[in-house]
Amino acid sequence: MKSQWGVLSRRLSIGGARPTAHHGWRCQSCRGGQTRRKPFSTTAAVRDSDRDGDGKPYYVTTPIFYVNAAPHVGHLYSMVIADVLKRWKVLKGERSFLSTGTDEHGMKVQRAAELQDVQPTALCDANSEIFRDLARRADISNDCFIRTTDPAHREAVEHFWARLREGGHIYETKHEGWYCVGDETFYSDKMVEKRVSPQTGKPFTASIETGNAVEWTEERNYHFRLTAFREPMLRFYADNPNWVAPSSRFAEVIDWVSNHLEDLSVSRPASRLSWGIPVPDDPSQTIYVWVDALINYITVTGYPGWQQGTGAWPADVHVVGKDILRFHAVYWPALLMAVDLALPRRILSHGHWLMERQKMSKSTGNVVNPFGAIDRWDTDVLRYFLVYHGSVANDANYDNGLILDLAKKGLQRGLGNLLNRIVGPKLWDVSYAVAKMTGDEDRPGLAFLRLPASVDAHKARVEAITDKVQAHMDELDPTGALKEIMELIFETNKFVQETSPWVAAGTGRKRETDLIVFYAAESLRVAGILLQPFMPNKANELLDRLGVSRETPRRSFAFARLQADNAYGKSLIETGKGAWKSLFPPFKVSD
Ligand code: ME8
Ligand code: MG
Repeated sequence: MKSQWGVLSRRLSIGGARPTAHHGWRCQSCRGGQTRRKPFSTTAAVRDSDRDGDGKPYYVTTPIFYVNAAPHVGHLYSMVIADVLKRWKVLKGERSFLSTGTDEHGMKVQRAAELQDVQPTALCDANSEIFRDLARRADISNDCFIRTTDPAHREAVEHFWARLREGGHIYETKHEGWYCVGDETFYSDKMVEKRVSPQTGKPFTASIETGNAVEWTEERNYHFRLTAFREPMLRFYADNPNWVAPSSRFAEVIDWVSNHLEDLSVSRPASRLSWGIPVPDDPSQTIYVWVDALINYITVTGYPGWQQGTGAWPADVHVVGKDILRFHAVYWPALLMAVDLALPRRILSHGHWLMERQKMSKSTGNVVNPFGAIDRWDTDVLRYFLVYHGSVANDANYDNGLILDLAKKGLQRGLGNLLNRIVGPKLWDVSYAVAKMTGDEDRPGLAFLRLPASVDAHKARVEAITDKVQAHMDELDPTGALKEIMELIFETNKFVQETSPWVAAGTGRKRETDLIVFYAAESLRVAGILLQPFMPNKANELLDRLGVSRETPRRSFAFARLQADNAYGKSLIETGKGAWKSLFPPFKVSD
């Protein structure tokens, strides 16, 4: 497979800084056949403590998505949240690694291929490419795109399985239960109920959790002794009270482990499921797709050929939808404990996007095509909406009317308008005001003036913003962070309105004009720097128009402080004419 690094280093330029393209290690899966693995390490576990302070990159993941159908806005959302987390670290000058990809094995994909009368490989190749393309179109700065059909991944899964076997964590037994192909999950009797299909009026059995149809199955398969990990897991949760965000979801996980844990089926008879990785010493069984899928997170860090302390594992954060939290917060840590590997540091479980109160879903088909949405709104505008209106704790409605309202309010009348008001008028010169206010010793500026109360209040707001945004990001709350930045923009517009620098300028009050213009420009500059992880293109355009140097480190986190930059204010780019010269040109209103 072609490496993503070339693309990445060309595309990703945050804060004017090029990412350090080669971290000394690379996504195993992306290496293709070029590099041979190092011999297996016998000291498997790489503990957090082994690597603290040694510069392990901040490792963020998205779920890997099923290729049974094309992506929708829900998948894009997970990618965007993960991308914002990664870019935030890059903005702060830290190394960060983002992985995404596709989950290609299992009944769900096997059946989709049968239905479409194509070979599974053909379906996977085609749909995986669409997910990869979506990441590109949405400016997701992923360093890697894993496919579970990659040979390196198969090797990782086989190795992991062998460790489970060796450790005595797997046994063979007869399994009876309800299997849901849509959810790729076994459910017990207590977890299903009878329902009537609203379309056909026919009765069927459904998962209570997801509403998806289940089928009764009786088969011999392998089980993982999940219940053996109940106590260690409960201890781990207790020791790490912020492990899952939000805490309401964490409480559900803990309740589930306390009360509902059963051993887990980890294979299916090959006669039923042929599209998957065979159990290494028993090809009559195929490895359960979720065991296969979760391992992707370590495959990309070089497992099993990794050298202790050189890789990205453990993940700093797994971004997942709440639909798959149990797999990540229960099965995954237990599997990792079983093979003595470090656990991921945090899990961010987000809410669902709804269409008319129903979860947007590939299987239901009530989906918004993310490519269409990008064409219609522009990548950054869509990213803005998804982060601003989406939610970690709750579900959110996807609605074009709402996108238009929020984009007009926040981006056109908020950000774009403020920028025009400050850089547009010929009544003042931003770069002069900046020089005055950050003046060097020979030319003492206005910095020592006693400030009018309104200016003083605004100054305090700019001084406080960066720490507030940082606090939200530390809590894995990009929505809170973005709202904080936008609040500053709204307040700055009010400040400019109330202090009316055009009146001051028109009546010759030059010092007052420069003061107001300077503090408004500082809002824009600091907001522009902080917005880069959210809207990489628009934030950079804003900084261009404001004349903030593209040279490192003027657009980096360190400069997101009042008076940190003493030379900006002359646009770096030619702007167009009329309404189109705005940072956010008019939106297409009709469908
Ligand atoms: O579950 N709103 O893949 P999947 C928000 N292959 N996010 C949504 C969403 C919605 N309506 N619909 C989907 C799988 N998502 C497994 C994952 S990971 C080792 C294996 C996002 O294609 C969200 O992140 O069904 C959700 O968890 C994921 O896509 C499920 O994607
Ligand atoms: Mg799903």
